[in-house]
Amino acid sequence: MIKITSLILISLLLMGCEYGRMYDQPNPRPTKIVQQTVPKNIVQSTKEHTEREMKVNPYQLTEENIKFGQKTYRAFCHHCHGADWKGHTHVGDGFPVPPTNLNLQQIQTKPDSDFYSHIYFGGKYSPALGTNMSDEEIWKVIMYIKTGKTKTIDSL
Ligand code: HEC
Repeated sequence: MIKITSLILISLLLMGCEYGRMYDQPNPRPTKIVQQTVPKNIVQSTKEHTEREMKVNPYQLTEENIKFGQKTYRAFCHHCHGADWKGHTHVGDGFPVPPTNLNLQQIQTKPDSDFYSHIYFGGKYSPALGTNMSDEEIWKVIMYIKTGKTKTIDSL
């Protein structure tokens, strides 16, 4: 019995030595979160692109198109801007500047072209979605936001 106990104790001691070596390794967990700064001119400013041929929404204002826009919002914007469009989401709150409240008067009255280039080329912190979204998705999500109604289809 004594033999077994001492054997266990010795193995524990040896395991302890191993732990000691592990302890010396660098800790992979970050102790400090460093906010990355966005380099200038990588994401282009929206103002430079307003001249592009995207002034008028080519899609008709129909219920079907608005619903398509709402689905698109759920897929591409919801996780940051939120169901109420106010931008206080888990993802959104992680940004140094929270995602803009899309209900605001100054956002609702922006020309469609500004929206388009903002979505396409991104902003200071918002992503450039031009390569992930189709033209149709961008225009219809703009149409949906311009309705000013967060709840167009309750079932979604
Ligand atoms: C990864 C998070 C994220 C996603 C996804 C996102 N946004 Fe944003 N958005 C932001 C942040 C952060 C800001 C505020 C800072 C800035 O303008 O870059 C913002 C700002 C905006 C603005 C204000 C622009 C202005 O002129 O001031 C609009 C409009 C907007 N987003 C629309 C959208 C739409 C539409 C989608 C989906 C197609 C979308 N965003 C997806 C994070 C996001």
